[in-house]
Amino acid sequence: MERLKSSARLMIVSDLDHTMVDHHDPENLSILRFNALWEAKYRHDSLLVFSTGRSPTLYKELRKEKPMLTPDITIMSVGTEITYGNEMVPDEGWVDVLNHKWDKKIVTEETSKFPELTLQSESEQRPHKVSFHVKKEKAQEVMKILSENLVKRGLDAKIIYSGGMDLDILPQGAGKGQALAYLHKKLKAEGKLPQNTLACGDSGNDAELFTIPDVHGVMVKNAQEELLQWHAENAKSNPKIIHADERCAAGIIQAIGHFKLGPNTSPRDLPDLLDVKLEQFDPAYEVVKIYLFLERWQRAEVDDPERYLDNLKAVCSPSGAYVNAFGVEQSLYDFIGKLKECYGDQKGKQHRVWVDQVFPAQIDSNTWLVKFKKWEQTGEEQKGCFTTAILSSKDVKPSQGLTWVHVHQTWMNGSMKGQNLVSLM
Ligand code: GLC
Ligand code: MG
Repeated sequence: MERLKSSARLMIVSDLDHTMVDHHDPENLSILRFNALWEAKYRHDSLLVFSTGRSPTLYKELRKEKPMLTPDITIMSVGTEITYGNEMVPDEGWVDVLNHKWDKKIVTEETSKFPELTLQSESEQRPHKVSFHVKKEKAQEVMKILSENLVKRGLDAKIIYSGGMDLDILPQGAGKGQALAYLHKKLKAEGKLPQNTLACGDSGNDAELFTIPDVHGVMVKNAQEELLQWHAENAKSNPKIIHADERCAAGIIQAIGHFKLGPNTSPRDLPDLLDVKLEQFDPAYEVVKIYLFLERWQRAEVDDPERYLDNLKAVCSPSGAYVNAFGVEQSLYDFIGKLKECYGDQKGKQHRVWVDQVFPAQIDSNTWLVKFKKWEQTGEEQKGCFTTAILSSKDVKPSQGLTWVHVHQTWMNGSMKGQNLVSLM
């Protein structure tokens, strides 16, 4: 959170499964659209928060499977674990709050009396979360009796039903909503309360996100029955909460537009990237654009390849260099020359490219140093490179785009596994 010197322009707090991530979309198009929008227009001055029911173990698995950005803050295990940054540094203060009137042993004892409850896997049992599966027909009754029994044992616990099958028991002060309220309080104390917050969810454990003051909310189109019912009973007349008519991340983009929280056209929605004429220099946008271009190039989704290459050449410095992830240096012009050979080499395959954590820094009046992670996924396999690029505005107008002067890449840890020594910027 220290990254931002002042209030975030937008804080997005999004659930993952069936909200940010669409498990019924093998092409991952809606999350990729969101990613491109976030990196081009929001990353530098906004905060991305993922809030998931998953434990750290299952969260990390999801990251390997799906094209997910790196959030600034990760809330896991239904709001019982908060971590910051790439290193996922835990918030120790939050753990202290959760110990109030909580005793996991008593929860285990009381729940063992219900044959209807089946314990979830070991990885999903956390210090402040005990999780089961239970059939829809039984859920309401079990929750009622169990909650009475826990009160009798002196606990102040919260029972949440999600996805028509998952039952979580947490300390009363925990949950996704309370975790968000805690973050807001922390940011406010630093004088950095976000200008706008958008909460996004699809299931029961997301309901409390929509109860936090001053939060806009979107229930994605595919929201679960239990969330829609909660909304009908508790928040029907609140204009700050909408039920999107688009699924998952596409519903999040829709909500950004609906609440007028900022730009909501993803660069991925522009069929012809060459026709985009910017009014001011925008290095993050240029980075998103060029990698989208490379993806389309390899997928053979470019209308006029010759024109594309000419345009690419026009935005590269004749003396520019590209040091690839294997440490091999070539001129940017040579690189463009070789691009011809790989036109359409991923045609018909599930090949996607996205950039993550695009951070531009202006280093003098016409030079930007942009750091980012470049990812690609072909089928199941993901690989990533730390990338640094130097872009210049010398002798060009914003409508022409910045000039690429230098690109340098390094494989990310673990990304070298099983590589055939090919790398495309
Ligand atoms: C995730 C967690 C699970 C939890 C569910 C609903 O699927 O892995 O433990 O019950 O979210 O919160
Ligand atoms: Mg969900």
